[in-house]
Amino acid sequence: MINMRRLRFNPAVRSLVQEYSLDSSKMILPLFVREGTGIKQEIGSMPGQFQMSLDVFKEKIRQLSDLNIGGVILFGIPDVKDEVGSDAMSDSGIIPRAIEAAKSVNDKMLIVTDVCFCEYTSHGHCGCIGDVGGRKEVDNDKTLDMIARQTLAHARAGADMVAPSGMMDGMIGTMRTALDASGFAHLPIMSYSAKYASAFYGPFREAAESAPKFGDRRSYQMDIKAGIGQAMREIQLDIDEGADIVMVKPALAYLDVIRLAKERFPDLPLAAYNVSGEYSMVKAAAQLGWIDERRIVEESLIAIARAGASIVITYWAEDVARWEK
Ligand code: PBG
Repeated sequence: MINMRRLRFNPAVRSLVQEYSLDSSKMILPLFVREGTGIKQEIGSMPGQFQMSLDVFKEKIRQLSDLNIGGVILFGIPDVKDEVGSDAMSDSGIIPRAIEAAKSVNDKMLIVTDVCFCEYTSHGHCGCIGDVGGRKEVDNDKTLDMIARQTLAHARAGADMVAPSGMMDGMIGTMRTALDASGFAHLPIMSYSAKYASAFYGPFREAAESAPKFGDRRSYQMDIKAGIGQAMREIQLDIDEGADIVMVKPALAYLDVIRLAKERFPDLPLAAYNVSGEYSMVKAAAQLGWIDERRIVEESLIAIARAGASIVITYWAEDVARWEK
């Protein structure tokens, strides 16, 4: 008789036939840096995640150095915000200084930077505001110039990879051209290619102090009800413009998008962002004693890997690395 339970009959057999396992060396941990000293401010809606001043951040990098994690992705919160997000484009902005601080502690740790403006602008949008068809909206092409400047500031400070998350058209091509023209042809771009206008980013906007002051991000991020083909088009365009790694975001509500992206674009690495809301929901339920956090996290991260993402940006990267140890 066909007996499916034979391959489950004891732990050794089960282990032998497993095809997926967590691998913290493929996980990237998001970190939030801000001005000041001695600041380690827990994010209310994200227990276990903090806004850190650079001294505290440096200590964090030191601790992470003993763990087998893939790298970190940095988000900056400047003291002064303005219409165009000047701090984001400055060589003495919060992120260039954070990169230098991290490299001074560990020059081998992969440092990825988020390239976007919502944390830096007074209005909280991901670019500068212009008149688009008579409406106050993010001006795509003016924002591209800003993106090029921000990218080069990160590159000059020593970032290992830049990751644009603003969903501006042409951002990858603009960044590639700027990098290549300035001696950074070697720097890879990980594009947030298929990024949906998702309610799952809610806690992040508290963490990064980046909620839009008017309107929302639906004119640049993807509609959650759009056909899946639109996500494939976004990814294809980014590949054509020179993206080295493409990403689907969020992860868990979009496993079908991850799966299809892996099928359509098997030739380049695919990342997924296990976003703040996905983290907070699990944390909240765990705090209430309703679920087993570690098992839920493992199951979720395995699902993302099985869907086809080989790289995962997740707030649990450090925990996973500790569990592995
Ligand atoms: C935008 C950005 C966002 C996230 C990463 N980059 C938020 C947004 O688009 O509003 C969300 C990440 C998360 O929710 O964990 N710079």
